Amino acid sequence: MNPGKKLHEWYLIHKRDLPFRKKKQAYPIWISEVMLQQTRVNAMLPLYESFIKRFPNPESLAQAEEDEVLAHWKGLGYYSRARNLRKAAIFLVQNYNGAFPKDLNLVLKLPGIGNYTARAILSIAYDLPLAVLDGNVKRVLSRYYGYTENILSPKADGDLQKKADEFLNLEHPGDHNQAMMELGATLCLPESPKCLLCPLSEDCFARIHQKTSEIPVRVKDKKQITLEGEILVLWNQNCILLVREPKMRFLKGMFHLPYGFTGEVPEETYESTPFFLSLKKSLPKDSSPIGEFKHTITHHKMKFSVFSLPWEDRALVAGLAKELGVESKWVTLSSLDTEFPSSLASKVKKFLLYLES
Ligand code: ADE
Ligand code: SF4
Repeated sequence: MNPGKKLHEWYLIHKRDLPFRKKKQAYPIWISEVMLQQTRVNAMLPLYESFIKRFPNPESLAQAEEDEVLAHWKGLGYYSRARNLRKAAIFLVQNYNGAFPKDLNLVLKLPGIGNYTARAILSIAYDLPLAVLDGNVKRVLSRYYGYTENILSPKADGDLQKKADEFLNLEHPGDHNQAMMELGATLCLPESPKCLLCPLSEDCFARIHQKTSEIPVRVKDKKQITLEGEILVLWNQNCILLVREPKMRFLKGMFHLPYGFTGEVPEETYESTPFFLSLKKSLPKDSSPIGEFKHTITHHKMKFSVFSLPWEDRALVAGLAKELGVESKWVTLSSLDTEFPSSLASKVKKFLLYLES
């Protein structure tokens, strides 16, 4: 029997009987996958049940007040996930009749849905051939294939996604993905994996070469620096302000959305520029962000809040920019990605597209 088939047979016998596995429906699978990013299965089950009872479908979630959705997220923390669920539900109802489009790129456009979640939903609900990669799956794959590079490096994601795609069981993509996750959670444990019980043991590199304690390789690089920042989206006649500032820690030499770090910064080079601080003064005191997201640049882990600010007077910005040696220009939303070619732009754009929802 081929390894994929062995894994599938194992899964059919050993899979846990979980409420979101009863039916192949995208909505409950989506909710459960987002919750499972924060909590283990056992801890999330009661919350999942009460959430689904109150919001049984995208329509009910879309119609609910944000506060009520947040109340049902209590205990899980990281409330932006709950806000994004509601926003995405609204979008699904408005654009797709409440169903998930069967297309990875369209699903990736929904707020709060990244590669893992999109692939999990589409493979488990619709059996689309998309392999998922989470921490557990990375461990299983690196042991199975004898992948000895650092799995915490950005390169490893690409390498292991290739292996995951190669290993995917095309006849049962949804079961396969869940089997990989389940294997990592129950047998292929970080320490003392239970290889004797494992359906992959016969073909597993790490088991054969007795290297399960050496693989996966996890080297934490430089000390991580965490930063909290703000991004300003200034609007004027359907255009957004981009700037190029001489002294910037990140995005040097590039036109970018005005940003600055708030709170404690590790050294002077991270401090907000006078230009950013002046713009920020125009933001009403009680404004709340239109969205928040995480972003990593090398060893910097950043969390950005995005603020939207209608702007009357372009000349005011031009004057300020000139005074402070900053270049500025106004670009349309549709050209934002080309004018500001950074993944930061697409992350921000996601919120702008949902401003109306
Ligand atoms: N962890 C997160 N999602 C999972 C799933 N669908 N099955 C098993 N483990 C998981
Ligand atoms: Fe993990 Fe052992 Fe199975 Fe290999 S044989 S996948 S190391 S549990």
